[in-house]
Amino acid sequence: MKTVELLKDRRSYYDINKEIPVSEEKVRELVENTTELVPDAFNMKSSRVVVATGEKHEKLCDNVHKAFEGMVPKEKTDSFKKGYGTVLFFYDMDVVNEHKDEFELYASNFEDWATQSSGMLQLSVWIGLRELGIGASLQHYNPVIDKMVREMFDVPESWVLKAQMPFGGIGEEPAQKEKENIWNRVKVWK
Ligand SMILES: Cc1cc2nc3c(=O)[nH]c(=O)nc-3n(C[C@H](O)[C@H](O)[C@H](O)COP(=O)(O)O)c2cc1C
Repeated sequence: MKTVELLKDRRSYYDINKEIPVSEEKVRELVENTTELVPDAFNMKSSRVVVATGEKHEKLCDNVHKAFEGMVPKEKTDSFKKGYGTVLFFYDMDVVNEHKDEFELYASNFEDWATQSSGMLQLSVWIGLRELGIGASLQHYNPVIDKMVREMFDVPESWVLKAQMPFGGIGEEPAQKEKENIWNRVKVWK
């Protein structure tokens, strides 16, 4: 039941700080390993990831606030800024298009599959970070921040930003969730 235990520990952590209990190298290793190991349709390897720490992370948080021209409160972006870093998740549209051309029958599926694979990677990084004692949350400031991110991290035009994951040392634990009646959502047939 290791999987369930890991998933139980993964929560949306908004109270994060710069005190992570492992070296930055461990975070990098986690991102590298998960990116390599997470499956993708036709093994197309469409996911792309940027890890921002230190000044780059802080600048990114400030720039998110600027990109929204005040519509995202400063307290919100500052709460992410207090964290250690941000993982940015993309997929590469060039890879998607190559597969569309090569496998015409499935052409309409490839972008969706790239998104699904990115989601699998996001979850893997999220639970992996928590296993390292690091809290994270999943944010979606794309597409408003796309241009800024592209310029800041010298990201190719073909990379489509899907999600942002601010992470850091854990401050306050999130409130406990109510146990749900899962049979409303799971059906088993024999
Ligand atoms: C596809 C997806 C999009 C999400 N987008 C956001 C988001 O933009 N901002 C945010 O704070 N949380 C976001 N979340 C986190 C969920 O709101 C959160 O996981 C859910 O409420 C359960 O809470 P927990 O993560 O603490 O278990 C997203 C989660 C998923 C899977």
